[in-house]
Amino acid sequence: MIDIDQIRADTPATSRITYLHNAGAALMPTPVVAAMKQHIDLESEIGGYAAADRESDRLEAVYGSVARLLNGAPDEIALVENATVAWQMAFYALPFRAGDRILTAEAEYAANYVAFLQVAKRTGAVIDIVPSDASGELDTDALEYMMDERVKLIAITWVPTNGGLINPAASVGRIARAHGIPYLLDACQAIGQMQVDVEAIGCDMLSATGRKFLRGPRGTGFLYVRRELLKTLEPPMIDHFAAPWVSRDEYRLRDDARRFETWENNYAARLGLGAAVDYALEIGIAPIEQRCRVLAGRLRGGLAALPGINIRDLGRAPGAIVSFTLDGYEADAVVASAAAAGITIGASDPSSTRIDAELRALPHVVRASPHYYNTEAEIDRLIGHVASLAPR
Ligand SMILES: Cc1ncc(COP(=O)(O)O)c(C=O)c1O
Repeated sequence: MIDIDQIRADTPATSRITYLHNAGAALMPTPVVAAMKQHIDLESEIGGYAAADRESDRLEAVYGSVARLLNGAPDEIALVENATVAWQMAFYALPFRAGDRILTAEAEYAANYVAFLQVAKRTGAVIDIVPSDASGELDTDALEYMMDERVKLIAITWVPTNGGLINPAASVGRIARAHGIPYLLDACQAIGQMQVDVEAIGCDMLSATGRKFLRGPRGTGFLYVRRELLKTLEPPMIDHFAAPWVSRDEYRLRDDARRFETWENNYAARLGLGAAVDYALEIGIAPIEQRCRVLAGRLRGGLAALPGINIRDLGRAPGAIVSFTLDGYEADAVVASAAAAGITIGASDPSSTRIDAELRALPHVVRASPHYYNTEAEIDRLIGHVASLAPR
């Protein structure tokens, strides 16, 4: 059972605002803020190097926490600045040649897709988009049909930035495994919202961010790379931490996933990330996932019953991102009027998920993303606010 009173006490802003923007950046709980503040204080008292030395055990423990969250091992984790860097480190480490195929899904995130385009331009590799089924989820039969010896990577977004869709990540993993193809999963919007188990999914690489549903600080992210693949991947960029300079003409890549890191880091933010992971694990990801679904379902149902509302979420069982449009209103106008009423929500631009947005002719959509720390009353407040905006 989630102790909602305790959790809201740990999240002081919930007493002042209705915060439903967790797909953007969630509210950090007090242990996360405290972990960061303490380390900054320590740095100011004894200097950054000594502070890192003194806290080395706690800094090391962050890898263990992230590994537990993912059901991976600490040596399979790299801690980096954000999900994009994590994803780039994995993607750009993979070799492509002319004619190689990269398979992706319709709701792929813009940062990833422009990287596909760059590699396609540089190497002559081609990007093939796996179509979606009638529900809007990646069509696994189509994926199976598209597999051939030219496919060198499957790279998909599990939960897109622009709505509640949850792609069938584990079914994709089974296909990738059966064909022996590397599988890179963008779990940025899934982490902290739902169970993420790299063994159950069967992905080889997974990227995620700290600031969204995980409730960590901004400027944090991580990469998981399966041990067997790790040894074969040369990072696209290295420094002397990733690859110690062992003789005048030689470097030696680290054996672990830290070959994707650099020497300098924001240790306060890292400790904040570790505290966020521990906080989520302490509550339990299963109850978090269940409550997210309940609250998002309530929001989606309440909004759907209003006139002029068009729910834009895809998939059989959408998650905690609720996307919609309201007749007569630009998404930004809905976001601004909600903000004026003390409700924080966001919007998603079609260019963040261009393939999906073009296929569905999506305008900017309003994006409301509840989390387990929200209450039913807060959900109803947003529904009531949207109801007060008569269709124009
Ligand atoms: C699906 C998805 N992938 C990747 C990212 C990038 O994450 P970050 O901003 O931490 O690099 C986002 C950010 O919104 C996202 O929604």
